Amino acid sequence: VTGELSDHKSRAARAAPVWTERFAEPPAPRLLDYTRSVEVDKRLWPYDIECSKAHAQALAHFGLLSPEDLEALVGGLDAVARELADGSFVLDESDEDIHMAIERRLVELIGEPGLKLHAGRSRNDQVVTDFRLWVKDASRECAAHLLDLAEVLGKKAAEAVDIVSFEYTHLQRSQPVSLGHHLAAHAWPLIRDAKRFRSAWETADVSPLGAAAGVGTALIADPSVAAKALRFSRTFENSVDAVADRDFVLDFLHACVCAQLHMSRLSEEIVLWASSEFAKIELSDRWATGSSIMPQKKNPDAAELARARAALVLAGYVALATVVKGLPLAYNRDLQEDKQTAFTACDTVKASADVLREIVQDSRLVGQGTGTGGPGQLQGSLALATDLVEMLVERGTPFREAHRSVGALVRRLASEGKEFRAVSQADLAECGIEAVDVSEVRELDARRSIESKRGSGMTSPPAVRAQLEQLQQAISREREWTRS
Ligand code: ARG
Repeated sequence: VTGELSDHKSRAARAAPVWTERFAEPPAPRLLDYTRSVEVDKRLWPYDIECSKAHAQALAHFGLLSPEDLEALVGGLDAVARELADGSFVLDESDEDIHMAIERRLVELIGEPGLKLHAGRSRNDQVVTDFRLWVKDASRECAAHLLDLAEVLGKKAAEAVDIVSFEYTHLQRSQPVSLGHHLAAHAWPLIRDAKRFRSAWETADVSPLGAAAGVGTALIADPSVAAKALRFSRTFENSVDAVADRDFVLDFLHACVCAQLHMSRLSEEIVLWASSEFAKIELSDRWATGSSIMPQKKNPDAAELARARAALVLAGYVALATVVKGLPLAYNRDLQEDKQTAFTACDTVKASADVLREIVQDSRLVGQGTGTGGPGQLQGSLALATDLVEMLVERGTPFREAHRSVGALVRRLASEGKEFRAVSQADLAECGIEAVDVSEVRELDARRSIESKRGSGMTSPPAVRAQLEQLQQAISREREWTRS
């Protein structure tokens, strides 16, 4: 904007918002600065162009635009879209938001027919129509990125089915597990996230266009004309609700929150596992960072940030939920704040999924770990205590009794710094364990322990392989939706 308003009358009209005639004084510059959203919502421009074309078609359908005007509008909108796409579009200081900016430029380019476009429409229904279209695309994109991550986890899991590791509860060793089984456990939540995005897509799939400022318009007799052009499956049931409702954004954000929470748990395990204490994975050099002072450091910064950014995405959900809380119907300017949260969440989810996909893909899996958490040996580890209990149960000992006597045995061995591999006949006798031989206890084996959990969804290698096939099928099913 040049500020030389006296130069040219049309420039003066341009440099002010469309509603200035109503007021005796021009708006305070600070008001315009404070309320302007174009820097954020300019990202909606392709949807706004689409939405305006559909609205123009509806106006023509109801006899409010001549075929010539319609043609001029569609051509003009295409011309504006080209400028926006190639970066030659110049924002004007009077452009409150992308919707007004596009309309302003349209009028500059095509004149009179451009002045007819906003009939029967308000920005209240226009913004929410654009935003629903954006949420639909963004839901598909987020799901696709998460499925790519799930796919890599599945592939890595397939390589690790036979690697013995230890599972944890309370971050204490619990029982032996196939490392592939554990990795696959990070993939399933992502499938559920993809489904949540599909459901967010469905929530967003309702056209609000025609609700106008909130009560509808005398000019559009049937909102389904524009809705069909925009490929929405349904139109609003209530025009007031149509402009007031932001459930579709909250559903989308909720899907983002869940996805980022899941990725934060994966990130946390990458961070933990890459430590010398766990030493279950080795990060590739491409995905490690160094220290400015300690030359030996190999840090997992990217995973740490993916872990931290769950906070940002959750904050976005809380922010929008708080904006909506107690907000009177129908449209209020507060609702303008819905976009930044969703854009940030979407970008964070996609980038985090991409980063984690590469980290997982490039990491080397080591297995049960050689850190200080225990000797990590496959035979005679105390992490096989539950296997001993189950062995006793199979031989007729009541579970609670077996649990108690194995507990006593563990206490006795641990106090002497021993594990099952060093058990003696006297240890067993002292704890009242008679149904097993001392050699059976010494030879309790992590690999056999894993193989014994044969049920569907359990950790035996054949069960894990079957699970990974199911995982692949689930990924393909969800992918089909993201591509439909
Ligand atoms: N930019 C606003 C938003 O994104 C639209 C303006 C709605 N209408 C109004 N009279 N202020 O919500």
